Amino acid sequence: MTSKPAKPINLFDCATSQKVIGQENFIEAFRTILNHGGYAQGPETRELDAKLAAYSNVKNCSTCGSGTDALTLALMAWDVKQGDAVFVSSFTFVASAEAPVLLGATPIFVDSDPNTYNMDPKDLERAIQEVKAEGKLNLKAVIPVDIFGSPCDYDAIMEIAHKYGMKVLSDSCQGYGSVYKGKRSGSIADMTATSFYPTKPLACYGDGGAVFTNSDEENALVQSCRVHGMSPEDHYDNVRLGMTGRMNTFQAAVVLQKLKVFDQELKDRFRVASRYDHELSNYFGKQQILPNCRSAYALYTINCADRDELMSFLKENGIPCGAYYPRPVHTQTAYAKWNTRKLPVCEKLSKTVLSIPMTPYLDNQDLDYVISKMNEFALRKMNKAA
Ligand SMILES: Cc1ncc(COP(=O)(O)O)c(C=O)c1O
Repeated sequence: MTSKPAKPINLFDCATSQKVIGQENFIEAFRTILNHGGYAQGPETRELDAKLAAYSNVKNCSTCGSGTDALTLALMAWDVKQGDAVFVSSFTFVASAEAPVLLGATPIFVDSDPNTYNMDPKDLERAIQEVKAEGKLNLKAVIPVDIFGSPCDYDAIMEIAHKYGMKVLSDSCQGYGSVYKGKRSGSIADMTATSFYPTKPLACYGDGGAVFTNSDEENALVQSCRVHGMSPEDHYDNVRLGMTGRMNTFQAAVVLQKLKVFDQELKDRFRVASRYDHELSNYFGKQQILPNCRSAYALYTINCADRDELMSFLKENGIPCGAYYPRPVHTQTAYAKWNTRKLPVCEKLSKTVLSIPMTPYLDNQDLDYVISKMNEFALRKMNKAA
């Protein structure tokens, strides 16, 4: 029998990297900011823009206040507005759909692929045809989401979107560090939004985000919208509508520190995922990662018909877990009026998915225990059914 580790097992771990990097390095970076006084969008944010653009191999990165800001700023740069249709995954965190709605656009929810849990390109095409046939909305943009850190089927999605004259905004808020056919998140779609919320693979200690694009023109629009639509020539002339979307400099300093260990943390996330992939019972369905792609493993998510029972069993045994997401966005109260399409796959997923501990700092003792408890549950269920 595998015994329970003495220390608690974490679902996320926002603290250990602080010890690995050394708290004194964070304090030193904060002291620098206290001394120069550029607290909002100060020099560290520009250093981070350059480092992330280089990491993603993309021309421009503009850091901003959060992942939600990043999505909204990208859509503002494309002038998304009332009368526009924006096609978005429903199996996601609410912000993916909230951003187009805040700009007055109509979200058209798209179903998921049952194996990857990401936007199903076939359902995207169906949804586009429906909106086109109705003839009331402009076909404007598509927002596929790298759910749990796993890249979407970008070739198929971009081909469909471009065929209908639409742009693709990758919601890679969970996927920074993922790789799609040799390209890192940030360089795959027309624009990409990411988040540095504390539980994300590359994280800060509050809110933060970034927009990536190869287009200088789009980047200039994002940067203008980030400060209320300010003109780059005359800071007292606001030439378009914008928002307060600047990044807090202290948070940029945190991400700069975290970047030092990011590649090692990603390797450790793959180490954890690989043990789960190979050792968890086939009783559980596992999120499929597309060929020649790498997930950033923001979460490791299985699916299981007895999800709620499994969740109680794991919690009773001291293993934290969470159902992400128990309600697809189209079924949530504020989005009810856009619940216009049948989305059976994501509705089923929301009842069966379960995310289990995934942090770079799980050791073999933690993993032996989680795997043995999961497999004990699976064996009991399979014996009962036999
Ligand atoms: C898929 C997805 N999109 C958008 C967001 C929004 O990011 P933020 O919380 O930084 O605004 C999140 C954050 O949880 C997310 O997971």
